[in-house]
Amino acid sequence: MAVEPFDTVDLIRTKRSGGALSTAEVDWLVDAYTRGYVEDPQMAAMAMAIFLNGMERREIKDLTLAMIASGERMSFGSLGKTTVDKHSTGGVGDKITLPLAPLVASFGVAVPQLSGRGLGHTGGTLDKLESIPGWHASLSNDRLLSVLDDVGAVICAAGSGLAPADKKLYALRDITGTVESIPLIASSIMSKKIAEGTGALVLDVKFGSGAFMPSYEASRELAQTMVDLGNDAGVRTSALLTDMEVPLGLMIGNALEVRESVEVLEGGGPSDVVELTIALASEMLTLAGLPDADPAAALADGRAMDTWRRMIAAQGGDPSAALPVAREQHVVKAPASGVLATQEALPFGIAAWRLGAGRARAQDPVQAGAGIELHVKPGDTVTEGQPLWTLHTDEPARFERALESLEGAWSIGTAAPERGPIVRERIGG
Ligand code: URA
Repeated sequence: MAVEPFDTVDLIRTKRSGGALSTAEVDWLVDAYTRGYVEDPQMAAMAMAIFLNGMERREIKDLTLAMIASGERMSFGSLGKTTVDKHSTGGVGDKITLPLAPLVASFGVAVPQLSGRGLGHTGGTLDKLESIPGWHASLSNDRLLSVLDDVGAVICAAGSGLAPADKKLYALRDITGTVESIPLIASSIMSKKIAEGTGALVLDVKFGSGAFMPSYEASRELAQTMVDLGNDAGVRTSALLTDMEVPLGLMIGNALEVRESVEVLEGGGPSDVVELTIALASEMLTLAGLPDADPAAALADGRAMDTWRRMIAAQGGDPSAALPVAREQHVVKAPASGVLATQEALPFGIAAWRLGAGRARAQDPVQAGAGIELHVKPGDTVTEGQPLWTLHTDEPARFERALESLEGAWSIGTAAPERGPIVRERIGG
């Protein structure tokens, strides 16, 4: 039996007392954890020590590279096209990937969007697309390349071969209260994105009540850390810091969000969704070497819609099929007249999740039609008795807990709230 070069407990003690691990120690730790020599309770203690004491920039880079080295690294070099991807840290009503991928691909750029399923209050892109009759998320690497070559955009499940160390560590962090740590989040996201082989990457880092990292300063630090990791690894990377204080758009829930995305692709849709889609598309196209491209024109003239229809059909979906609708609806009406003053993202996300749009455990099913349709947004005038939002679910027993989550999450006042632009800052490489 080979002799292990380090003692796990020594490494945990180093991080516990605020020290830094060497590159060799990080490499060994990740490799030994992946092959099962370092056990879950030891890695949980290490994750908590990192959570409490942080990591130096060099350690974060080492951790990212070690997690990439734990699995396969894809390459899109054979395509002969520029590749550019987007990653969002997730938010309530965040369906932007759906219109964005075909929009950017309509300019001849390849968009490999390897995505995940939702856990907790933020919905997963794959869950949304699975509400389209016939659509399936799994593609072999060969098929992924051929759809990228032909259509230009693919949204599919990330294969289990990419950064398996992260997969194991992320699942452990999820059950040990160690998710919300900048070094751990940054290395987790960037190990998968760099292993995926994209040439350029735009990060949509959210701040506000519905975001992973509600504070602006923490979101900024997360964005800068990820931008540095990407550029250091040779992936042209930039980030937009975007507002997640209120839900994005008017629809929260799987099929409801597909419906809204299709409206955007038809040249309509709510202004905040359109604004963010265009901002991210411009950023992606700039990194892809097309700074003068006009994404708004491609939404208006149907080019993006054509690519969407081909992208959905390439994965078995019928882009013309009717989307599922939940069996039961409950309408919440305005108790008074005035102006909608607040609408907090997180409670709305939790309410949609309780209606069946999200899952509590990875193996749980989701309801395609469940969610919330917002009829008004902050700043809109409301009249007593008018519908504010409609709750959708297949199981009426779920309404009560969803309504509980909305208590105190919104208010009617006399003046429109002040809101800044949705894109607050760009962080470049
Ligand atoms: N998403 C990831 O992939 N990893 C994290 O740590 C957090 C969000």
